[in-house]
Amino acid sequence: MLERLESLLAEALEGIEGAATAADVDQATGRFLGKKGAVQEVLRSIGKLAPEERGPVGKKANEVKTAIERAAGLRRDALIAAAEAELGETEWVDTTMPPPPGYSVDRTGGTIHPVTQVVRELEDVCVGMGLDLLDGPWIEDDEHNFGMLNIPPDHPARDMHDTFWLSDGNLLRTHTSPVQIRAMESGPPPIRAVAIGRVFRHEEVDITHENTFHQIEGFYVDREVSVGHMIYVLQTLLENVLGEKVDVRLRPSYFPFVEPGFEMDVRFQGDWMELLGCGLVHPRVLRAGGIDPDVWSGFAFGLGVDRLVMLRHDIEDIRHLMSGDLRFLRQFREGVEG
Ligand code: PHE
Repeated sequence: MLERLESLLAEALEGIEGAATAADVDQATGRFLGKKGAVQEVLRSIGKLAPEERGPVGKKANEVKTAIERAAGLRRDALIAAAEAELGETEWVDTTMPPPPGYSVDRTGGTIHPVTQVVRELEDVCVGMGLDLLDGPWIEDDEHNFGMLNIPPDHPARDMHDTFWLSDGNLLRTHTSPVQIRAMESGPPPIRAVAIGRVFRHEEVDITHENTFHQIEGFYVDREVSVGHMIYVLQTLLENVLGEKVDVRLRPSYFPFVEPGFEMDVRFQGDWMELLGCGLVHPRVLRAGGIDPDVWSGFAFGLGVDRLVMLRHDIEDIRHLMSGDLRFLRQFREGVEG
Protein backbone atom coordinates (compact mmCIF):
# COMPACT_ATOMS: atom_id res chain seq x y z
CA MET A 1 0.00 0.00 0.00
CA LEU A 2 2.84 2.37 0.86
CA GLU A 3 4.41 1.69 -2.52
CA ARG A 4 1.15 2.32 -4.26
CA LEU A 5 0.92 5.71 -2.55
CA GLU A 6 4.48 6.54 -3.66
CA SER A 7 3.65 5.77 -7.26
CA LEU A 8 0.38 7.73 -7.06
CA LEU A 9 2.38 10.70 -5.84
CA ALA A 10 4.89 10.40 -8.68
CA GLU A 11 2.08 10.10 -11.19
CA ALA A 12 0.25 13.10 -9.79
CA LEU A 13 3.35 15.27 -9.77
CA GLU A 14 4.03 14.36 -13.34
CA GLY A 15 0.49 15.35 -14.32
CA ILE A 16 0.78 18.66 -12.49
CA GLU A 17 4.15 19.42 -14.05
CA GLY A 18 2.72 18.72 -17.50
CA ALA A 19 -0.36 20.92 -17.04
CA ALA A 20 -0.50 23.84 -19.48
CA THR A 21 -3.26 25.84 -17.78
CA ALA A 22 -4.66 26.32 -14.29
CA ALA A 23 -7.68 24.26 -15.33
CA ASP A 24 -5.39 21.40 -16.36
CA VAL A 25 -3.83 21.52 -12.91
CA ASP A 26 -7.24 21.15 -11.30
CA GLN A 27 -8.06 18.25 -13.56
CA ALA A 28 -4.74 16.53 -12.87
CA THR A 29 -5.18 16.79 -9.10
CA GLY A 30 -8.87 15.84 -9.24
CA ARG A 31 -7.92 12.38 -10.43
CA PHE A 32 -6.07 11.82 -7.15
CA LEU A 33 -7.71 14.04 -4.56
CA GLY A 34 -11.28 14.34 -5.87
CA LYS A 35 -14.12 12.47 -4.16
CA LYS A 36 -13.46 9.40 -6.25
CA GLY A 37 -9.73 10.11 -6.56
CA ALA A 38 -7.10 7.42 -6.11
CA VAL A 39 -5.68 8.85 -2.88
CA GLN A 40 -9.13 9.26 -1.38
CA GLU A 41 -9.81 5.64 -2.23
CA VAL A 42 -6.75 4.57 -0.28
CA LEU A 43 -7.88 6.66 2.67
CA ARG A 44 -11.33 5.10 2.51
CA SER A 45 -9.96 1.57 2.44
CA ILE A 46 -7.79 1.97 5.52
CA GLY A 47 -10.45 0.31 7.66
CA LYS A 48 -9.94 -2.91 5.76
CA LEU A 49 -6.21 -3.08 6.47
CA ALA A 50 -4.53 -5.04 9.20
CA PRO A 51 -4.53 -2.92 12.37
CA GLU A 52 -0.74 -2.44 12.44
CA GLU A 53 -0.75 -1.16 8.86
CA ARG A 54 -3.45 1.46 9.39
CA GLY A 55 -1.25 4.03 11.14
CA PRO A 56 1.63 4.14 8.64
CA VAL A 57 -0.66 4.02 5.60
CA GLY A 58 -2.91 6.79 6.95
CA LYS A 59 0.09 8.93 7.68
CA LYS A 60 1.61 8.35 4.29
CA ALA A 61 -1.68 9.01 2.49
CA ASN A 62 -2.00 12.34 4.22
CA GLU A 63 1.57 13.26 3.37
CA VAL A 64 0.93 12.41 -0.27
CA LYS A 65 -2.24 14.47 -0.24
CA THR A 66 -0.41 17.50 1.18
CA ALA A 67 2.44 17.13 -1.31
CA ILE A 68 0.02 17.03 -4.24
CA GLU A 69 -1.88 20.06 -2.97
CA ARG A 70 1.34 21.99 -2.52
CA ALA A 71 2.68 21.17 -5.95
CA ALA A 72 -0.69 21.98 -7.54
CA GLY A 73 -0.84 25.34 -5.76
CA LEU A 74 2.63 26.32 -6.91
CA ARG A 75 2.01 25.23 -10.49
CA ARG A 76 -1.36 26.98 -10.59
CA ASP A 77 0.17 30.27 -9.34
CA ALA A 78 3.01 30.04 -11.84
CA LEU A 79 0.65 29.36 -14.76
CA ILE A 80 -1.66 32.23 -13.80
CA ALA A 81 1.28 34.62 -13.46
CA ALA A 82 2.61 33.56 -16.84
CA ALA A 83 -0.81 33.96 -18.46
CA GLU A 84 -1.16 37.45 -17.00
CA ALA A 85 2.31 38.44 -18.14
CA GLU A 86 1.45 37.30 -21.61
CA LEU A 87 -1.65 39.52 -21.69
CA GLY A 88 0.68 42.53 -21.81
CA GLU A 89 2.05 41.19 -25.08
CA THR A 90 -1.16 40.11 -26.73
CA GLU A 91 -3.88 42.45 -25.40
CA TRP A 92 -2.57 45.91 -26.15
CA VAL A 93 -4.09 48.82 -27.94
CA ASP A 94 -2.31 51.00 -30.42
CA THR A 95 -3.33 54.43 -29.15
CA THR A 96 -1.67 56.14 -32.09
CA MET A 97 -3.82 54.39 -34.67
CA PRO A 98 -6.13 56.81 -36.53
CA PRO A 99 -9.85 56.14 -36.04
CA PRO A 100 -11.87 54.55 -38.84
CA PRO A 101 -13.55 57.05 -41.19
CA GLY A 102 -16.71 58.61 -39.81
CA TYR A 103 -15.67 58.36 -36.15
CA SER A 104 -15.73 61.65 -34.26
CA VAL A 105 -12.89 62.00 -31.84
CA ASP A 106 -12.77 64.16 -28.73
CA ARG A 107 -9.50 65.98 -29.07
CA THR A 108 -9.90 68.35 -26.13
CA GLY A 109 -7.79 66.17 -23.83
CA GLY A 110 -7.86 65.91 -20.06
CA THR A 111 -7.52 68.64 -17.47
CA ILE A 112 -6.30 68.58 -13.90
CA HIS A 113 -9.26 68.71 -11.53
CA PRO A 114 -9.61 72.16 -9.91
CA VAL A 115 -9.42 70.60 -6.44
CA THR A 116 -6.24 68.75 -7.38
CA GLN A 117 -4.77 71.99 -8.71
CA VAL A 118 -5.33 73.72 -5.38
CA VAL A 119 -4.14 70.68 -3.41
CA ARG A 120 -0.89 70.66 -5.38
CA GLU A 121 -0.40 74.38 -4.78
CA LEU A 122 -1.04 73.94 -1.08
CA GLU A 123 1.48 71.13 -0.99
CA ASP A 124 4.10 73.30 -2.70
CA VAL A 125 3.52 76.18 -0.32
CA CYS A 126 3.66 73.90 2.73
CA VAL A 127 6.81 72.13 1.61
CA GLY A 128 8.33 75.57 0.96
CA MET A 129 7.56 76.46 4.58
CA GLY A 130 9.39 73.36 5.78
CA LEU A 131 6.31 71.31 6.69
CA ASP A 132 6.15 67.56 6.14
CA LEU A 133 3.32 66.18 4.01
CA LEU A 134 1.49 63.37 5.78
CA ASP A 135 -1.22 61.03 4.63
CA GLY A 136 -3.82 59.09 6.56
CA PRO A 137 -6.42 56.42 5.79
CA TRP A 138 -9.94 57.29 4.63
CA ILE A 139 -11.28 54.43 6.71
CA GLU A 140 -10.58 55.26 10.33
CA ASP A 141 -11.42 53.73 13.67
CA ASP A 142 -13.50 55.41 16.31
CA GLU A 143 -10.49 56.10 18.52
CA HIS A 144 -8.47 58.00 15.94
CA ASN A 145 -11.40 59.95 14.52
CA PHE A 146 -13.02 60.75 17.87
CA GLY A 147 -11.76 59.18 21.11
CA MET A 148 -8.13 60.24 21.09
CA LEU A 149 -9.17 63.68 19.87
CA ASN A 150 -10.97 64.18 23.17
CA ILE A 151 -14.39 63.38 21.70
CA PRO A 152 -15.68 60.51 23.92
CA PRO A 153 -18.72 58.44 22.87
CA ASP A 154 -21.28 60.60 24.70
CA HIS A 155 -19.72 63.92 23.71
CA PRO A 156 -22.14 66.34 22.03
CA ALA A 157 -19.43 67.33 19.53
CA ARG A 158 -20.07 64.00 17.80
CA ASP A 159 -23.41 65.36 16.63
CA MET A 160 -21.58 67.81 14.41
CA HIS A 161 -20.00 64.94 12.57
CA ASP A 162 -22.71 63.05 10.78
CA THR A 163 -20.74 59.95 10.25
CA PHE A 164 -20.72 57.19 7.67
CA TRP A 165 -20.33 54.13 9.90
CA LEU A 166 -19.14 50.88 8.37
CA SER A 167 -20.60 47.52 9.35
CA ASP A 168 -17.32 46.51 11.05
CA GLY A 169 -17.50 49.46 13.46
CA ASN A 170 -15.01 51.59 11.55
CA LEU A 171 -16.00 54.78 9.80
CA LEU A 172 -15.12 57.10 6.93
CA ARG A 173 -13.06 59.85 8.53
CA THR A 174 -15.14 62.96 9.15
CA HIS A 175 -12.12 65.27 9.26
CA THR A 176 -8.36 65.14 8.73
CA SER A 177 -7.66 65.58 12.46
CA PRO A 178 -7.03 61.83 13.02
CA VAL A 179 -3.77 62.39 11.12
CA GLN A 180 -2.65 64.45 14.17
CA ILE A 181 -2.85 61.29 16.24
CA ARG A 182 -1.12 59.20 13.61
CA ALA A 183 1.68 61.78 13.37
CA MET A 184 2.27 61.57 17.13
CA GLU A 185 2.17 57.79 17.03
CA SER A 186 4.81 57.64 14.34
CA GLY A 187 7.54 59.52 16.16
CA PRO A 188 8.58 62.02 18.81
CA PRO A 189 8.28 65.83 18.46
CA PRO A 190 9.08 68.22 16.99
CA ILE A 191 6.29 67.60 14.47
CA ARG A 192 5.72 70.16 11.72
CA ALA A 193 3.29 68.72 9.27
CA VAL A 194 0.22 69.05 7.12
CA ALA A 195 -2.16 66.44 5.79
CA ILE A 196 -4.39 67.15 2.81
CA GLY A 197 -7.10 64.76 1.80
CA ARG A 198 -10.64 63.59 1.43
CA VAL A 199 -13.16 63.56 4.26
CA PHE A 200 -16.72 62.29 4.38
CA ARG A 201 -19.90 63.36 6.14
CA HIS A 202 -23.39 62.03 6.02
CA GLU A 203 -24.78 65.39 4.94
CA GLU A 204 -27.98 66.51 3.39
CA VAL A 205 -26.35 67.57 0.11
CA ASP A 206 -27.04 71.11 -1.13
CA ILE A 207 -25.12 73.98 -2.75
CA THR A 208 -22.82 74.37 0.24
CA HIS A 209 -22.77 70.79 1.59
CA GLU A 210 -21.24 67.70 0.03
CA ASN A 211 -20.83 64.22 1.49
CA THR A 212 -17.28 64.08 0.13
CA PHE A 213 -14.92 67.01 0.42
CA HIS A 214 -11.33 67.93 1.23
CA GLN A 215 -9.49 69.37 4.17
CA ILE A 216 -6.00 70.50 4.95
CA GLU A 217 -4.89 69.83 8.49
CA GLY A 218 -1.90 71.60 9.99
CA PHE A 219 -0.19 70.20 13.06
CA TYR A 220 2.78 71.73 14.81
CA VAL A 221 4.26 70.39 18.06
CA ASP A 222 7.42 71.78 19.60
CA ARG A 223 8.58 73.51 22.79
CA GLU A 224 6.69 76.66 23.78
CA VAL A 225 4.46 76.90 20.73
CA SER A 226 2.06 79.83 21.03
CA VAL A 227 -0.99 81.30 19.32
CA GLY A 228 1.41 83.84 17.79
CA HIS A 229 3.22 81.07 15.91
CA MET A 230 -0.10 79.74 14.71
CA ILE A 231 -1.24 83.11 13.38
CA TYR A 232 2.05 83.65 11.57
CA VAL A 233 2.01 80.25 9.89
CA LEU A 234 -1.65 80.52 8.87
CA GLN A 235 -1.33 84.04 7.54
CA THR A 236 1.73 83.12 5.48
CA LEU A 237 -0.01 80.04 4.14
CA LEU A 238 -3.18 81.94 3.20
CA GLU A 239 -1.28 84.78 1.52
CA ASN A 240 0.60 82.29 -0.58
CA VAL A 241 -2.54 80.48 -1.60
CA LEU A 242 -4.72 83.53 -2.21
CA GLY A 243 -1.89 85.36 -3.94
CA GLU A 244 -2.17 88.63 -2.01
CA LYS A 245 -1.61 90.16 1.44
CA VAL A 246 -4.54 89.36 3.72
CA ASP A 247 -5.70 90.41 7.16
CA VAL A 248 -6.71 87.67 9.54
CA ARG A 249 -8.62 87.72 12.82
CA LEU A 250 -9.38 85.13 15.46
CA ARG A 251 -12.73 84.56 17.14
CA PRO A 252 -13.08 82.22 20.12
CA SER A 253 -14.65 78.92 19.18
CA TYR A 254 -14.89 75.37 20.43
CA PHE A 255 -13.36 72.15 19.15
CA PRO A 256 -12.77 69.39 21.73
CA PHE A 257 -9.21 68.77 20.54
CA VAL A 258 -7.91 72.32 21.03
CA GLU A 259 -7.77 74.69 24.00
CA PRO A 260 -8.07 77.59 23.44
CA GLY A 261 -9.97 77.09 20.19
CA PHE A 262 -10.66 79.67 17.50
CA GLU A 263 -12.13 80.30 14.15
CA MET A 264 -9.98 82.35 11.85
CA ASP A 265 -11.49 84.87 9.47
CA VAL A 266 -9.65 86.32 6.55
CA ARG A 267 -10.29 89.61 4.75
CA PHE A 268 -10.16 88.79 1.08
CA GLN A 269 -11.16 91.35 -1.56
CA GLY A 270 -12.70 93.57 1.10
CA ASP A 271 -14.95 91.05 2.87
CA TRP A 272 -14.35 89.15 6.10
CA MET A 273 -14.86 85.45 5.60
CA GLU A 274 -14.99 82.66 8.10
CA LEU A 275 -12.38 80.24 6.87
CA LEU A 276 -11.05 77.67 9.31
CA GLY A 277 -10.88 76.14 12.77
CA CYS A 278 -7.71 76.23 14.82
CA GLY A 279 -6.23 76.36 18.31
CA LEU A 280 -3.59 75.04 20.64
CA VAL A 281 -3.54 71.26 20.83
CA HIS A 282 -5.45 70.07 23.91
CA PRO A 283 -3.17 68.47 26.56
CA ARG A 284 -5.38 65.37 26.48
CA VAL A 285 -4.76 64.97 22.77
CA LEU A 286 -1.00 65.26 23.27
CA ARG A 287 -1.19 62.69 26.05
CA ALA A 288 -3.26 60.34 23.84
CA GLY A 289 -0.44 60.59 21.31
CA GLY A 290 2.16 59.72 23.95
CA ILE A 291 3.50 63.29 24.25
CA ASP A 292 4.08 65.00 27.61
CA PRO A 293 2.06 68.25 27.63
CA ASP A 294 4.29 69.70 30.34
CA VAL A 295 7.22 69.65 27.94
CA TRP A 296 5.61 70.09 24.53
CA SER A 297 2.87 72.25 23.12
CA GLY A 298 1.42 72.72 19.69
CA PHE A 299 -1.16 74.23 17.40
CA ALA A 300 -3.49 72.65 14.89
CA PHE A 301 -5.78 73.95 12.20
CA GLY A 302 -8.24 72.50 9.74
CA LEU A 303 -9.63 74.14 6.66
CA GLY A 304 -11.89 73.17 3.80
CA VAL A 305 -10.02 72.97 0.52
CA ASP A 306 -13.21 73.00 -1.54
CA ARG A 307 -14.07 76.41 -0.08
CA LEU A 308 -10.78 77.76 -1.41
CA VAL A 309 -11.44 76.29 -4.84
CA MET A 310 -14.92 77.84 -4.92
CA LEU A 311 -13.53 81.22 -3.87
CA ARG A 312 -10.84 81.18 -6.48
CA HIS A 313 -13.11 80.30 -9.38
CA ASP A 314 -16.31 81.90 -8.13
CA ILE A 315 -18.11 78.55 -8.11
CA GLU A 316 -21.54 78.85 -6.57
CA ASP A 317 -22.44 75.19 -6.02
CA ILE A 318 -20.08 72.74 -4.26
CA ARG A 319 -21.79 69.80 -5.96
CA HIS A 320 -20.05 70.64 -9.24
CA LEU A 321 -16.73 69.61 -7.75
CA MET A 322 -17.42 65.90 -7.31
CA SER A 323 -19.88 65.65 -10.22
CA GLY A 324 -17.37 64.44 -12.80
CA ASP A 325 -19.26 66.57 -15.35
CA LEU A 326 -16.85 67.18 -18.24
CA ARG A 327 -18.56 70.43 -19.21
CA PHE A 328 -17.62 71.74 -15.79
CA LEU A 329 -14.14 70.23 -15.65
CA ARG A 330 -13.03 71.48 -19.06
CA GLN A 331 -13.21 75.07 -17.86
CA PHE A 332 -10.12 74.52 -15.73
CA ARG A 333 -7.33 74.29 -18.21
CA GLU A 334 -4.66 75.96 -16.10
CA GLY A 335 -2.24 73.49 -14.67
CA VAL A 336 -2.82 71.00 -17.44
CA GLU A 337 0.16 68.76 -17.77
CA GLY A 338 2.27 68.08 -20.84
N1 PHE B 1 -11.32 69.06 12.50
C1 PHE B 1 -12.07 70.27 12.57
C2 PHE B 1 -13.28 70.13 11.65
O1 PHE B 1 -13.30 69.33 10.76
C3 PHE B 1 -11.27 71.48 12.16
C4 PHE B 1 -10.16 71.79 13.12
C5 PHE B 1 -8.90 71.23 12.97
C6 PHE B 1 -10.36 72.67 14.17
C7 PHE B 1 -7.88 71.51 13.84
C8 PHE B 1 -9.35 72.96 15.07
C9 PHE B 1 -8.10 72.39 14.89
O2 PHE B 1 -14.27 70.81 11.81
